[in-house]
Amino acid sequence: MAVGATLKTELFPNGGGLKNVARDEGEKRPRWAEIAYEAIAPVYDDFTAHHDYELWFGRLLPKVERHGIPGRRLLDVGCGTGKSFIPMLERGYEVTACDISSSMVEIAREKVGDRVELHVADMRELPVFGEFDLVFCVDDAVNYLLGVEELVQALTGMRRNLGLGGLLMFDVNTLEAYQTFFAEEVVVERDGRRMTWKGLSTPDAPPGTIAEASFEVEPLDETGGPPIPPELHRERHFSEAEVLAALEQAGLECLDVFGHHHEVILQQPLDELAHAKGVYIARAAEAS
Ligand SMILES: C[S@@+](CC[C@H](N)C(=O)[O-])C[C@H]1O[C@@H](n2cnc3c(N)ncnc32)[C@H](O)[C@@H]1O
Repeated sequence: MAVGATLKTELFPNGGGLKNVARDEGEKRPRWAEIAYEAIAPVYDDFTAHHDYELWFGRLLPKVERHGIPGRRLLDVGCGTGKSFIPMLERGYEVTACDISSSMVEIAREKVGDRVELHVADMRELPVFGEFDLVFCVDDAVNYLLGVEELVQALTGMRRNLGLGGLLMFDVNTLEAYQTFFAEEVVVERDGRRMTWKGLSTPDAPPGTIAEASFEVEPLDETGGPPIPPELHRERHFSEAEVLAALEQAGLECLDVFGHHHEVILQQPLDELAHAKGVYIARAAEAS
């Protein structure tokens, strides 16, 4: 964290995300994720254009389906610009979705109009939107929760949205992700702009780390749109033991845990250093 702190001062001479969060100190819930996604929203799809949801869901969904998804009502929590629910519309799901960032939701709405019921909502205080056959929260959205207490709150909200026999699926980044992607610089040049991700974590980041990375955009020519000043992404690593305990506290029964790396070969057991992501499948516990 010492290295991160030095870099932060260099990267955010005028405060940047730190200034935003200082503004929030008196608030009940830190707004790091909302601030970061309001900033990245205009270029999010460009920066993540290589994410292959057909491959990912093609491997993940059969693992969920084998536990028996009772119907086709889906709630996508932390839906972003819709990249995670659009493949589900194509699979015949009736979708409700929400995200903490109104700009991300607005982009999703431009893509799907009223085919999806969209809400701006914080998963730490998730309303009950209905009774869903599948609730999912994907692409490390839960890692933006910065403590176990917030994770339990979010999982409890997801459980309350499950209909009879409904299933929950979510992924978390492993320690490997915080020791590599969050410790590296990634530059993507596309559509007249340079998008720079600067990981501020370290290759020896410990379990439970809160890792930071800054993201900024510079236009390379007149087609590149306005610059986006550096904004901080903060994610917390959750170990398997922490996730399993949080699931139990939230009234959920864990059915399966998988790990996979970028080529999406799902394996058991989850290995924090060999896999990039952990995937959890759960349902409401009998007593809840
Ligand atoms: C990496 S993006 C993934 C978006 C989408 N699920 C996808 O696969 O493209 C993480 C998303 O989680 C959202 N998020 C982070 N914290 C949240 C919270 N507390 N409540 C709701 N959404 C949140 C962010 O705004 C962002 O859109």
